[in-house]
Amino acid sequence: MGAEIILETRDLTKEFAGFVAVNGVNLQVERGTIHALIGPNGAGKTTCFNLLTKFLNPTRGKIFYKGQDITAMQPADVARLGVVRSFQISAVFPHLTVLENVRVGLQRKRGGSFDFWRSRAVLDQFNARAMSLIEDVGLTGFANIPAVELPYGRKRALEIATTLALDPDMLLLDEPTAGMGHEDIDRIAELIKTVSADRTVLMVEHNLSVVSNLSHKITVLTRGRVLAEGDYETVSNNPQVREAYMGTGHA
Ligand SMILES: Nc1ncnc2c1ncn2[C@@H]1O[C@H](COP(=O)(O)OP(=O)(O)OP(=O)(O)O)[C@@H](O)[C@H]1O
Ligand SMILES: [Mg+2]
Repeated sequence: MGAEIILETRDLTKEFAGFVAVNGVNLQVERGTIHALIGPNGAGKTTCFNLLTKFLNPTRGKIFYKGQDITAMQPADVARLGVVRSFQISAVFPHLTVLENVRVGLQRKRGGSFDFWRSRAVLDQFNARAMSLIEDVGLTGFANIPAVELPYGRKRALEIATTLALDPDMLLLDEPTAGMGHEDIDRIAELIKTVSADRTVLMVEHNLSVVSNLSHKITVLTRGRVLAEGDYETVSNNPQVREAYMGTGHA
């Protein structure tokens, strides 16, 4: 199977007042894979995500999605193309129920006119699809409780569901398991695996066991630069990577 590059950066660079946070990064993400971006704190991972979603404009370099140069696009246009970052557009409304939150996501995908708010009947058309997404993320039993009452790990699952409601081709996840206990981590990891079946996932993740279990390819960033790249075996045996991880507390 020929590897199709769905997302590519060339010489991607971001300077903040002379400080180079992302420095000449060339990234190639293959369609249908789970690609992890790892590295010590301050390596530039989140800045990379902000550049890819156009939250930030690069100082230099280019971004291509499905061969199209998206460097000059607005965040909403990139999202419309199918590159969606969890927790970016898919804010969770705390006082809406799980079901209502996912329904709002579905409406948005459809182009969400506010008229939809007025018609109970129209809203209900989204119920079946919403319930199926809720089932996908393991929240069926929570469908009718307000988001604010969800335990933390379940809230992240809901955020993933509202992101999936936008039907992205490519999902960007920044530390999806951050702050979670073992059970939640396992559940979210399983969920990422499931949703990646017909999508591409680029994720920043500090938990190396999650990274090793899920990732097809790993890019290691340090100080804004790509230090190493490859599968987990390759990357974890790289002496420079080992050194970069020593003393960071993530190893
Ligand atoms: N808006 C900004 N202005 C100035 N400096 C910034 C800005 N955003 C990020 N930086 C700096 O750029 C560097 C990279 O930050 P970034 O958040 O991308 O790191 P990260 O790899 O995501 O780290 P972490 O693992 O802690 O989330 C850091 O030194 C940070 O202080
Ligand atoms: Mg970060």
